[in-house]
Amino acid sequence: MERALSLEFLRVVERAAISSARTMGLGDGHRADQAAVEAMRAEMDSVGMDGTIVIGEGERDEAPMLFIGEKVGAAVRDKSHTYPAVDIAVDPLEGTNLCATGSPNSITVLAASDHGGLLHAPDLYMQKIIVGPSSRGFVDLDAPVHVNLRAIARSLDRKVEDLVVIVLDRPRHEDLVRDIRKAGARIRLISDGDLSAGISTALLGSGVHAVMGTGGAPEGVLTAAALRCLNGQILARLIVSKPEHEERIAQMGIKDGKKIYDTADLASGKRMIFACTGVTDGGLLHGVRFFGGGIRTQSLVMSLQEHHVRFIDSVHITGDDVKIRF
Ligand code: FBP
Repeated sequence: MERALSLEFLRVVERAAISSARTMGLGDGHRADQAAVEAMRAEMDSVGMDGTIVIGEGERDEAPMLFIGEKVGAAVRDKSHTYPAVDIAVDPLEGTNLCATGSPNSITVLAASDHGGLLHAPDLYMQKIIVGPSSRGFVDLDAPVHVNLRAIARSLDRKVEDLVVIVLDRPRHEDLVRDIRKAGARIRLISDGDLSAGISTALLGSGVHAVMGTGGAPEGVLTAAALRCLNGQILARLIVSKPEHEERIAQMGIKDGKKIYDTADLASGKRMIFACTGVTDGGLLHGVRFFGGGIRTQSLVMSLQEHHVRFIDSVHITGDDVKIRF
């Protein structure tokens, strides 16, 4: 599955990034998201797979495209072949507001696995702690913040004061931020985008050592898919605080709302592909650049079984007079 599909998924995230990047800074998140969804959906039609969306834009009623359960891929039209069955999780534009305001770190994202390999996460919040390979196994979701920070510092052979922790800038994180500051670590508050932040923890030299706090559960599953390929770790628990949340998790087949999920519980597949493309410039990837005769994109494509992590710089030629900068 992986060798054939990973480059096809690259095309999907690249095309979504190019479309949404055209809306950068227009102040219209809905339009940015729609551009990414439509491009992703159109490109997926030609991918040689029998795909099912397991994490998408929501239910069929609220999302015209890429809704949970939607069939995607060449198998939808072509019944003369047998295509590999693949579960697909997408965040067509992670950081919608980042794109709408031209701020750093919006990306287009797709993860794929063999059937059943990605948790069908409801669109709820999730408490998360995310670390890179050196700190894997050192953290505990229920441990006090200072204990986790000391453990991360030990694993990285540095002081707590040297650590950088990314936290979504939200009122719900007031206590967390206070505890991190008290422990002595440095903080980068971000307005959106805990998925690209989570991937950064697993890349040496990114200057990010952990992500802590509560963000989207779908983003948690996508982070887990990336971290399976990068040897990082996410520990997470759904926030189930209302009767409608209970109903929602039951509908998704989740029995224990208090369960702490480890990376391989969220993304358990034996086969896993993760692909993302930068929309706006960020710490992880460059954003889309348009120039005379071409468009340049930067992507990250990883595959678990193929043991590949590829940073891919593509030039999409759109005119005869293209001049490519080395
Ligand atoms: P979008 O992809 O919908 O733009 O989500 C951005 C994001 O910041 C995620 O990275 C994060 O997990 C989630 O939203 C946090 O949700 P909220 O903005 O409700 O705090």
